[in-house]
Amino acid sequence: MTFLTVQTSPIEGQKPGTSGLRKKTAVFREPGYLENFVQCVFDGTGGAAGKTYVVGGDGRFFNTEAIGTIIRMAAANGAKRLIVGQNGILSTPAVSNLIRKNGTDGGIILSASHNPGGENGDFGVKFNAANGGPAPEKITDAIFARTQGISEYRIAPDDAGDVSTIGNYRLGDLQVDVIDPVADYEELMRALFDFDAIREMFEGGFRICFDAMHAVTGPYAKQILEGTLAAAPGSVINAVPSPDFGGGHPDPNPVWASELVAIMSGERAPDFGAASDGDGDRNMIMGKDAFVSPSDSLALLTAYAHHAPAYSGGLSGVARSMPTSQAVDIVAERLGIPCYETPTGWKFFGNLLDAGKVTVCGEESAGTGSDHVREKDGLWAVLLWLNILARDGRDIVQLRRDHWRSFGRNYYSRHDFEEIPTEAANALMNALRRRLGTLAGARVAGLTVNEADDFAYADPVDNSLTEHQGVRILFQGGARVVLRLSGTGTQGATLRVYLGRYEGPGGDHGQEVQAALSPVIEAVERIADITKHTGRNKADIIT
Ligand code: G1P
Ligand code: ZN
Repeated sequence: MTFLTVQTSPIEGQKPGTSGLRKKTAVFREPGYLENFVQCVFDGTGGAAGKTYVVGGDGRFFNTEAIGTIIRMAAANGAKRLIVGQNGILSTPAVSNLIRKNGTDGGIILSASHNPGGENGDFGVKFNAANGGPAPEKITDAIFARTQGISEYRIAPDDAGDVSTIGNYRLGDLQVDVIDPVADYEELMRALFDFDAIREMFEGGFRICFDAMHAVTGPYAKQILEGTLAAAPGSVINAVPSPDFGGGHPDPNPVWASELVAIMSGERAPDFGAASDGDGDRNMIMGKDAFVSPSDSLALLTAYAHHAPAYSGGLSGVARSMPTSQAVDIVAERLGIPCYETPTGWKFFGNLLDAGKVTVCGEESAGTGSDHVREKDGLWAVLLWLNILARDGRDIVQLRRDHWRSFGRNYYSRHDFEEIPTEAANALMNALRRRLGTLAGARVAGLTVNEADDFAYADPVDNSLTEHQGVRILFQGGARVVLRLSGTGTQGATLRVYLGRYEGPGGDHGQEVQAALSPVIEAVERIADITKHTGRNKADIIT
């Protein structure tokens, strides 16, 4: 087979971030745009010759075409083998598992996670390394460096072949294995959890609603929950992945998963509710009329993970991203295991997991996971919860209430100010950083600042230092505010303000979250002048 070498030149702004390269779908569809970046991924990782990769995506608009392009480019770059999900479908945790299970050289995931899809939505390309996790900075830096000097890309002129049928085919010397997207993932889950206990619980009448949000977890949840575990038919809603996620925003939080929130309210509500995002790595957990915050979910999963066979021997340690609430710290302390605080983004957990320092980790942004893969895993969190509930016997709301009684409650909320001009966002953060040294001891809105800093992380495994990861302001009495700019937005800047307040075991733990946090909200407005800088007097999204 003859391959084409196409002359090209560097394209501005192809800098992969925490979650790969994310842009508007229209940008990815510009002639040569995707090809340029894929070639840089290959070149930046030592070339594709002789290598094996996993390739799949969340089914959003342009997924199939992009997979065809990657197959043709892998063939022209001399790759040996690709493992591709049938119809181009693979969830992010499923890709991570396949990379590890097959010992591949990495994987390419097509997704913009929870960002809306469709012709006018977002698209993304992410490279995962041989450990199954998001590429570490030295790899993304090498890929980026390549984007600055690229002059040609290689591609097979032919049709990429048929990925709609399970089986194998060849494109030149490249072998393409089209696999069932769910089978290997289900096998892994079966090895971690007590499927018999969960199945018995469902057979005994336990009711679940899982909202796949028209995204990638639909086929996984249908097969595992309704199939293998015998949840009632119809338990999984919005189960068919659609190119534009049914016009919705596949972000599992109370704002975007409002359909689930409605189902989970009132007398007739199921016992347990859950949702996952575009590419299946995030999760949202609910009981009847109750949203379980991701930070609380992490703390509770840590406290009760021993109910699942895979974690019955205890956890080596836990990790949370810095903005995540400190609820899990208190659990770790009581369990006598270390708790690590890392910068935002899953990649920072990778070293800790690889070194065996932690078993479970999580982020406030609805990501929870363990050492079973190197990505957060939405359905894993749901299955761990089901395993815990099946063994524990209490319902989730009761279990959480008892937990607060014993450990105290960390009231927690995130306020996002979206699409603000980049200069205004930078001005706010710079002004705040300049004032950091003067904040300690200040009294604002009835709260006293204990200390304030700009979070820096020294990786305990490779000693690398990551600085400027967000401003932390700690108040006397355990309240805390964190401010940072999003690294995943595609338009303007997003300011994230994370608010927390601790109420010890003796409290009543029953306050409405925003009300409980109102002094902290007022304090951060005064300290950071959010309204003055952004022109907004309230957040766009409150979760
Ligand atoms: C967001 C979340 C972060 C998560 C990342 C990728 O990043 O806040 O926790 O790891 O998406 O899913 P951000 O936009 O805040 O940089
Ligand atoms: Zn995601």
